[in-house]
Amino acid sequence: MTKYVISSSILSADFTQLGKQIAEAEAAGVDWLHVDVMDGHFVPNITMGPFIVEWCRKASKLPLDVHLMIEKPERYLEAFAKAGASGLTVHVETCPDMHNTLKQIKALGVKAGVVLNPPTPVGVVEPYLVEADLVLVMSVNPGYSGQKFMPEAIDKVAQIRKKLDALGSSAWLEVDGGIDATTLPKMKEAGATAYVAATAIFKNPKGIKEGVRALRSLL
Ligand code: DX5
Ligand code: ZN
Repeated sequence: MTKYVISSSILSADFTQLGKQIAEAEAAGVDWLHVDVMDGHFVPNITMGPFIVEWCRKASKLPLDVHLMIEKPERYLEAFAKAGASGLTVHVETCPDMHNTLKQIKALGVKAGVVLNPPTPVGVVEPYLVEADLVLVMSVNPGYSGQKFMPEAIDKVAQIRKKLDALGSSAWLEVDGGIDATTLPKMKEAGATAYVAATAIFKNPKGIKEGVRALRSLL
């Protein structure tokens, strides 16, 4: 049976109550915490660094799924690993020597992920599928939570699913951006196994618990 995971992105959490909200998400049954790191260069927004990862590590035992939307991520891999990241996911658009970057991540004892933006074709990520522990398909242009799901991502997930299966890879196939009760089933059908959600969990009008339950019930 396929195992599916929900990775709750703290980007939409209330940071005046971060520990409490993380505990609530954990109690509601999320599998991972997703930390969106943005540098104001690779994406227009600036968000969190290793310092926040460190506090998340103290606040929860859940795996920390760290998404690096930064230029030259190689400079910070060690800092994020030391801060407690369980997985580091780097963008194919900003890693000129991806084989080496993935190797570097693994050498730090954390899971290595590779991610592609909506305009980036599947072929660009193909050479790295065999060594990646996780492949992340963006279904919004990265930078902000609360954006509209881009349906073009569905076919990309299906294409990558086929390639991972052909390789006999057990890598997670993760999706990120606009994932909610309507879009999740489409990504599941295409073959995704890990679902990032910020708004659908932390900004759910019925609360975090109900947000998680609504997504979980579809898996
Ligand atoms: C976008 C981030 C996402 C974001 C998702 O750049 O990578 O992880 O938090 O937010 P929602 O689930 O609201 O689309
Ligand atoms: Zn993300």
